[in-house]
Amino acid sequence: MSLPGGPFLARSGADLTLEGHRLADLAQRFGTPLFVYSRRAMLDALAAYETALKGRPHLVCYAMKANSSLAVLQTFAQAGAGFDIVSGGELARVLAAGGDPAKVVFSGVGKTRAEMQQALHVGVRCFNVESLGELDRLDEVARGLGLRAPVSLRVNPDVDAGTHPYISTGLKGNKFGIAHDHALAAYRHANSLPGLQVVGIDCHIGSQITQLEPYLDALDRVLDLVEAVEADGIPIHHVDVGGGLGITYTDEVPPDAAVLVARLLQRLDARGHGHREVLFEPGRSLVGNAGVMLTEVLYLKPGDEKNFCIVDAAMNDLMRPAMYQAWMGIEACHLRNAETLCWDIVGPVCESGDWLGRDRKLAVQPGDMLAVLSAGAYGMAMSSNYNTRPRAAEVMVDGEQVHLIRQREAVESLFAYERLI
Ligand code: LLP
Repeated sequence: MSLPGGPFLARSGADLTLEGHRLADLAQRFGTPLFVYSRRAMLDALAAYETALKGRPHLVCYAMKANSSLAVLQTFAQAGAGFDIVSGGELARVLAAGGDPAKVVFSGVGKTRAEMQQALHVGVRCFNVESLGELDRLDEVARGLGLRAPVSLRVNPDVDAGTHPYISTGLKGNKFGIAHDHALAAYRHANSLPGLQVVGIDCHIGSQITQLEPYLDALDRVLDLVEAVEADGIPIHHVDVGGGLGITYTDEVPPDAAVLVARLLQRLDARGHGHREVLFEPGRSLVGNAGVMLTEVLYLKPGDEKNFCIVDAAMNDLMRPAMYQAWMGIEACHLRNAETLCWDIVGPVCESGDWLGRDRKLAVQPGDMLAVLSAGAYGMAMSSNYNTRPRAAEVMVDGEQVHLIRQREAVESLFAYERLI
């Protein structure tokens, strides 16, 4: 049986394993809910981009919002990657993990003065600016520090990435980017401000994209602008095509990163832009299928209409099903010889939206361990303490080695910053 959850996830007899480690054993040893990642899978996913970009000026900036745990950042930093950040907090994490600020691009529609100052102090590679107001603010902050801020304008190419509305970002109706029609004027404005230095252009059209065409359409629209802006006398050094490449959760067949990169480079060449430095901001495609979330079955509650399998992980640990009705694979860590029934896998949180999977055919008993697949991206990073639930622990396997990379939160720490009146 081939599993959608990543290259190092396999069945060995009845046991589900990651890089050869039995997941049921890890769940016993570290407790549940537990995220487990394969370091090899992350590095291989990065290598797919790097290999395809070999010989070209390029920088792969891992979109760390997908999974910002320090050991994950450290893994990518050591492999030479840069980072796409969206907050001062993420910048602090990059530095704590040993990342190079000169390889950081700072995205996001709402950067504060303090965040701009912090990023200028450490010398990030570039600010991806999304509005005229932000250009003016950044100019003022940079001049206040006696610096010039390197900027790229995030343009909204108005292409449909064909993905979930909550994670589609490149359409006119989205809050993101500067409208294509206004971009030339915005570049002229940026170029007139003494505290700014125009260095690039960027776009990001959405997430979990499974087709090539939207990328090629967006690149064409971006290159039209590069040509118009340079004809106006403003040089543009790099083109940042964003992130968004999808992964296989069930039966999606997204293009390989290597194919995506090759097709984009081909298009750059064909249009005479082969010399430009190319930046990518992949998040999900680097970490999504490198991880699983393990959870223990607490109770079975068969019913007239639905059978509920109540587990110890919930929407606070893994928001994607509740938030996007996302389908994520669920597998027993150890297959048992018992009757298979159709279950809704739900957590202990007091909301009907608290489910991890619906109508899943599984043979389960209380005490069994389940693995939610493809949970390396937007799992831990989006988790919360709702219902005063401590956040999960995280483990990274690396060949023979097993590293606890985040210990389970202690309940007292959840209210350590609070005061009685
Ligand atoms: N660059 C920018 C500017 C972004 O906004 C994002 C993601 C990325 C790069 C990385 O996109 P990726 O390669 O991971 O698709 N929580 C949602 C996904 C939100 C994506 C937000 N932006 C989910 O769980 O599906």
